[in-house]
Amino acid sequence: MPALVLLGAQWGDEGKGKATDLLGGSVDYVVRYQGGNNAGHTVVVGDQKYALHLLPSGILSPGCTPVIGNGVVVDPAVLLSELSGLNARGVDTSKLLVSGNAHLITPYHTTVDKVTERFLGKRKIGTTGRGIGPAYADKINRVGIRVQDLFDESILRQKVEAALDMKNQLLAKLYNRRAIEVEQVVGELLGYADEIRGYVADTTLILNNAVDEGKVVLFEGGQGTLLDVDHGTYPFVTSSNPTAGGACTGAGVGPTKINRVIGILKAYTTRVGAGPFPTELFDEDGDALRTIGGERGVTTGRDRRCGWFDAVIARYATRVNGLTDFFLTKLDVLTGWERIPVCVAYEIDGKRVEELPYSQTDFHHAKPVYEMLPGWSEDITRAKTFADLPKNAQGYVKALEEMSGAPISAIGVGPGRDETIEINSFL
Ligand code: GDP
Ligand code: IMO
Ligand code: MG
Repeated sequence: MPALVLLGAQWGDEGKGKATDLLGGSVDYVVRYQGGNNAGHTVVVGDQKYALHLLPSGILSPGCTPVIGNGVVVDPAVLLSELSGLNARGVDTSKLLVSGNAHLITPYHTTVDKVTERFLGKRKIGTTGRGIGPAYADKINRVGIRVQDLFDESILRQKVEAALDMKNQLLAKLYNRRAIEVEQVVGELLGYADEIRGYVADTTLILNNAVDEGKVVLFEGGQGTLLDVDHGTYPFVTSSNPTAGGACTGAGVGPTKINRVIGILKAYTTRVGAGPFPTELFDEDGDALRTIGGERGVTTGRDRRCGWFDAVIARYATRVNGLTDFFLTKLDVLTGWERIPVCVAYEIDGKRVEELPYSQTDFHHAKPVYEMLPGWSEDITRAKTFADLPKNAQGYVKALEEMSGAPISAIGVGPGRDETIEINSFL
């Protein structure tokens, strides 16, 4: 099973970091293919907790080569500080490979992200403020700066000039901010060049060779399906493609090489930032999910919005990603509820709708139709097999599987590496 994609099936924070780390020990390469340091992936190894933002979660597995693919946007300051933070904790990061074609997030992208959000006012997206959208906008506008540009001072200066030409007009005339100096940006970027140079490689060549040789390559998505710029709840999305197709463009590996696509699915739903969320709870159940589930953003520290499981979204994730499996996480968080509501369909303007509506207006009007499933009160955090789960927890998992359209092949019952029930092997 050489090439697998592992991605978020909801609005991010499903537990991708834990799932990737879990497989990391048996995988040769773990590849980030989109997004940047807007991601926040928590990995718990024994009594150690790591928060990764830009680096692939495979960096914590000694035998695994972590790769930052061409589709990622790289903030060089964040890259170096995350590396030195891990080095200080004894993690060997020397195997990291970074695509020379990945685009850079520069200080002006972060500035533009923040001022744009302020300018949007009530209509803001609630971005992470990390410069993600503006960096991808420059890539598509063909005025982006790539990692490889760090190594040619004259090209770098020309490109920074081109990028700042229009942006400075906007900053000064529209946003009432001071213009950004070309030389200051060039100087800062050149300051990172020597430290980054050793990691840069032709990652598409390396990854294609690896797949052809039968090595195991895991593509790790950031964010989630409903935050995808094409398939998510636009405009309340991130600016890249976390869905499975993004792994192909963001790593330079063709779709015929991918064997398995695993959707990470939380046993309930959360969302950070603005945008529609049909099963969102504003009552004590929502507070309880937030508290028990520790639902606070790893990147921005914002409280996550919480709600019940939404099977319409899970089915949609199966469809747009071609999912072969689900990894259901955080089942333990639901312990203690007598009855657990699960959204099986929506009611939109008086009509029952089984599939995610493509119309933004309809989705904003969607009201969840709930089915009540019996809960359980036994502690499940030590369960090692499906049979160890109480009958009602087994029933909950089976019901979700039937509604979601792909087999649930693993279940998370706690944040640690070993707090996982494996049903079908991923490798
Ligand atoms: P990611 O962005 O998808 O990697 O997810 P985050 O790390 O942002 O959020 C998931 C949180 O849930 C982290 O704090 C994980 O340690 C934690 N977690 C992952 N799987 C489980 C699980 O099965 N049970 C519990 N209780 N926590 C989990
Ligand atoms: P992980 O990988 C949850 C959300 C932001 C905002 C929208 C756009 O940890 O699952 P951006 O800064 O990307 O332009 O913000 O996307 N967002 C996430 N929400 N988990 C994430 O990553 C996210 N990355 C971005 O809150 O609503
Ligand atoms: Mg996260």
